[in-house]
Amino acid sequence: MSNPTFLAISGSLRRTSHNTGLLRAVQNLAPDGVTIDLYEELGALPFFDQDLENGPEPAPVADLRRRVREADGVIIATPEYNSAIPGVLVNALDWLSRPADPPVLGVKPAAILGASPSQFGTARGQLILRQILHRMQVPVVAHPEVTVFQSHRRFDSNGGFIGDDVTKSLLRALLAELVTLAERARPACVA
Ligand SMILES: Cc1cc2nc3c(=O)[nH]c(=O)nc-3n(C[C@H](O)[C@H](O)[C@H](O)COP(=O)(O)O)c2cc1C
Repeated sequence: MSNPTFLAISGSLRRTSHNTGLLRAVQNLAPDGVTIDLYEELGALPFFDQDLENGPEPAPVADLRRRVREADGVIIATPEYNSAIPGVLVNALDWLSRPADPPVLGVKPAAILGASPSQFGTARGQLILRQILHRMQVPVVAHPEVTVFQSHRRFDSNGGFIGDDVTKSLLRALLAELVTLAERARPACVA
């Protein structure tokens, strides 16, 4: 695929977030020709309210939907909160799940990953994220599953990725799979 662009969404609003740091690491590891834009306006989205669908589209929602429509897919790094995913991320996904037809993401793929200081590295949260995306009919990279456990050992106090080789190779593999799924999703060109 020529020059794919992906929108990277962190489920954390924390200034020194490990998950945002993980997405910055993916940006730095992306091969030439692959662009990853970091979405940093999650906290500006209003709470989803079905009544708001009858009025003008809130500007932050319009911006998120436009950026997703313009991308070839999304990369979502999620913290695990209470064995699930943060409400701010669910809120963004609720906005992206509407309108259902045509869907905002369409057949474009998603790669998911997450970092947490626990031993589980967001494994439980990612199952829930995968289920939500399945409901939205979004193809999700199946392998590798990137669960960055003991994240306090892999990120510095500013949320910067320290850079261990195992995590780096998983991030590269995840991105390669995402590019493959995006190639499949892009409509075939008619000669
Ligand atoms: C409300 C709340 C609930 C949490 N629940 C879990 C949890 O269920 N499992 C887990 O591994 N970590 C849990 N944590 C710890 C987060 O994984 C940790 O704060 C992580 O660094 C958050 O991601 P971030 O660095 O991207 O902000 C929780 C943290 C908060 C604030």
